[in-house]
Amino acid sequence: MSWELLLWLLALGTLLALVVQLLRFLRADGDLTLLWAEWQGRRPEWELTDVVVWVTGASSGIGEELAYQLSKLGVSLVLSARRAHELDRVKRRCLENGNLKGKDILVLPLDLADRNSHEEATKTVLQEFGKIDILVNNGGVSQRSLFMDTNVDVYKELIEINYLGTVSLTKCVLPHMIERKQGKIIIVNSLLGIISVPLSGGYCASKHALRGFFSTLQMELDAYPGVTVSNICPGPVISNIVKNSLTGEVTKILGSEADQSHKMATSRCVRLMLICMANDLKEVWIAEQPFLLMAYLWQYMPTWAWWLTNKLGKKRIENFKSGVDADSSYFKIWKPKHD
Ligand SMILES: NC(=O)c1ccc[n+]([C@@H]2O[C@H](COP(=O)([O-])OP(=O)(O)OC[C@H]3O[C@@H](n4cnc5c(N)ncnc54)[C@H](OP(=O)(O)O)[C@@H]3O)[C@@H](O)[C@H]2O)c1
Repeated sequence: MSWELLLWLLALGTLLALVVQLLRFLRADGDLTLLWAEWQGRRPEWELTDVVVWVTGASSGIGEELAYQLSKLGVSLVLSARRAHELDRVKRRCLENGNLKGKDILVLPLDLADRNSHEEATKTVLQEFGKIDILVNNGGVSQRSLFMDTNVDVYKELIEINYLGTVSLTKCVLPHMIERKQGKIIIVNSLLGIISVPLSGGYCASKHALRGFFSTLQMELDAYPGVTVSNICPGPVISNIVKNSLTGEVTKILGSEADQSHKMATSRCVRLMLICMANDLKEVWIAEQPFLLMAYLWQYMPTWAWWLTNKLGKKRIENFKSGVDADSSYFKIWKPKHD
């Protein structure tokens, strides 16, 4: 075979590989490392059995679905959030549909903002199950309001719940994991921990803070390879997050149903979260297009990302001011409604 032909074949092969990668990326709903782990990595069904998992924010949305999927894996579950009756409902459904018995699920009401209660709550879990293998820091609140209309107390509340609440609970649980030389700290962050959008300044700040803080912790735990930290960054996922968003005042939540048509199914997001946990991935992005593309742009081409985000951000503010869901109209063009 001549050199010229060989070079042509090589170029053609490279082009083909690029086209395949591009097509894969267009269909992707997670970063490529995560999707590789889903294909070739350890499976949650093998890795996450016989473990004690503590999930905060388990009364709704992502945390609730996580409880259901974990209950099918046969783990022991601790369900925390503020609303005890909602946690009881989740427990009942776990028992109906999962592989657990009543004694395998502890309902433990907890307010992330009430940091003084975290030590006692940790003791209760240890007394009940004797160990904590995985702490899923999932509880959180979002925000929908412009800076000029927002009381500073709202920013304080977002930092208290999303950031300090998470740091505080981790601080209570980590010594136990270090002592056992094993454990997983999971942070349910957000793509808004990487990128920023208008109307959610306080939420973005709290999530950016989590990313910075827990990246540091990952490094500080280098001496304990069995204790891992995973930062999970979902894009829009079907849940009550927008409805429960804080607005300009701490006492006022948005209350209106969000348009969920452009969002990822909660079950798919949670399945990818379990893949992340099973494979101890340090950071994962879980989002459908075009949100995933935005994360890649922010990471690798920030100048383009700024240009695009400014354009979309303007539309977001317009939507919000005219009383429709901030993200509704422009993403309908991209993605048809879920069934
Ligand atoms: N859905 C999305 O599009 C999306 C995207 C990226 C990241 N996330 C993140 O995913 C996590 C879960 O949100 P979600 O989408 O499932 O929203 P959700 O349906 O509103 O659930 C939020 C959960 O957090 C709990 N929570 C709120 N404040 C709390 C507090 N002070 N103390 C303890 N628990 C508290 C809520 O329970 P109680 O009200 O009973 O306390 C609820 O269980 C959040 O951290 C959110 O930032 C969501």
